[in-house]
Amino acid sequence: MTVSPDVRSADPRERQDGLGWVTRAVFPGRGARLSIGSRSASAPDPGWRTVARYAVVPSAARARFLLPLGRRRVTAASVLAYNALRPPKVRAARAALGTAARLGVLELARMPVLIVSVPDDADPTELVLAEHLSAALGRGPLYGAFGVRAPDPNHKPTLQLFDADRRPRGYAKIGWNGATRALVRAEAAALHELPRPGATSDYPLVPRVLMHGDWAGQALAVVEPLPPDVRGVDPAEPPRLAALLAVARRGGAPGTPRELAGSPFLGRLSDLATKAAEAVDAGARAVHAVRRLTERHGATLAEFGDWHGDWVPWNLGTHAGRLVAWDWEHSGPHAPIGFDLAHQGFQCALILRSGPVPDAVRAADDLVGRYGEQLGLGPDQRRFVVDAYLIEMWLRTWRLADGGAGWNRALHPALLDVIEDRLSR
Ligand SMILES: Nc1ncnc2c1ncn2[C@@H]1O[C@H](COP(=O)(O)OP(=O)(O)O)[C@@H](O)[C@H]1O
Ligand SMILES: [Mg+2]
Repeated sequence: MTVSPDVRSADPRERQDGLGWVTRAVFPGRGARLSIGSRSASAPDPGWRTVARYAVVPSAARARFLLPLGRRRVTAASVLAYNALRPPKVRAARAALGTAARLGVLELARMPVLIVSVPDDADPTELVLAEHLSAALGRGPLYGAFGVRAPDPNHKPTLQLFDADRRPRGYAKIGWNGATRALVRAEAAALHELPRPGATSDYPLVPRVLMHGDWAGQALAVVEPLPPDVRGVDPAEPPRLAALLAVARRGGAPGTPRELAGSPFLGRLSDLATKAAEAVDAGARAVHAVRRLTERHGATLAEFGDWHGDWVPWNLGTHAGRLVAWDWEHSGPHAPIGFDLAHQGFQCALILRSGPVPDAVRAADDLVGRYGEQLGLGPDQRRFVVDAYLIEMWLRTWRLADGGAGWNRALHPALLDVIEDRLSR
């Protein structure tokens, strides 16, 4: 292999880092040409035209954002949008960057530029995602801003879309491997199925799907922008029980409790465990766990309903006194009420406090123990909810691994060990 002496002009899709990963996902078709150059990069080759330029912030080697160039105020808006959802350190850096972008000075001018060009006679909507989305949404030209992070088979590159007047127009997620394509499609389908309760309901505000479908081998979903002044929920606050119950009950009345045995929930859990056992050795342990769960809790009466599936403070915000909930890709029906509460406890310990699985399980038990009664859960149900949730989580881990995302080593096999220990006691 010959290495070009001018590495800055090489196709960034050849890179092994986050920039390589995100540009491969966002510009999958080799019909579009990508290069990295400076602001003063020369005109495209004859027969080619430039359709988009992005500032690579802060550098190609440490890229964090790709910001659309061409309209200064759009560039600035793309930096400032949703600042309030970022952790404070990032917020300060982004605010400074926004000022620079608005003034059109300093940093941005020194940053490398990603140049996207297509053959003169090509249809850019087939080759360039932002062009495709502009045409599909039919609201004039849209400009996309991308986040860049370390390559991760579980993560979906995302694209914030702005119009020429700087208004946010949508938020696109891109599924690029088996696991992430399934998640993107699942989220679009789930959002279609959610109820539309009245303004006085406890049901959270939900950004709805503007469009979804496949493009150039990727699964795409574009949802409405979050309200611009949305504020993230503080993880130290008590869980939002009224909203959680409204999600479970689809904004309606409580459901009638029923036994676990014979429930659609148990049917789904067993089917998934069987599929896991067909696919991987560890799946047999899940089948066994479902059997033990049934022996222990088969006669437990539980209320079932929808769950959000990733109910954590970083997927929740507030706007005009109401809760806003996004990231519905793991949501679904027929879940035991309290699953979202267990998940909040489990994930906060795992992600925010970087705790090992046993600590996360304890945190799930604690949160369900403390607040479960307010969801109508007695001691038996509280135990059942956490036991069942842990099996559900392992099955999710397996599904992601099966879709090409690899095993989440924080959860596998530790989660199976904990489940077996709990269910043998
Ligand atoms: N509709 C939206 N409008 C604006 N920003 C959004 C929107 N949806 C998500 N985001 C931002 O992107 C982040 C990641 O999106 P999310 O749906 O949570 O996907 P992930 O599965 O990657 O966590 C969110 O935490 C939020 O900051
Ligand atoms: Mg999220």
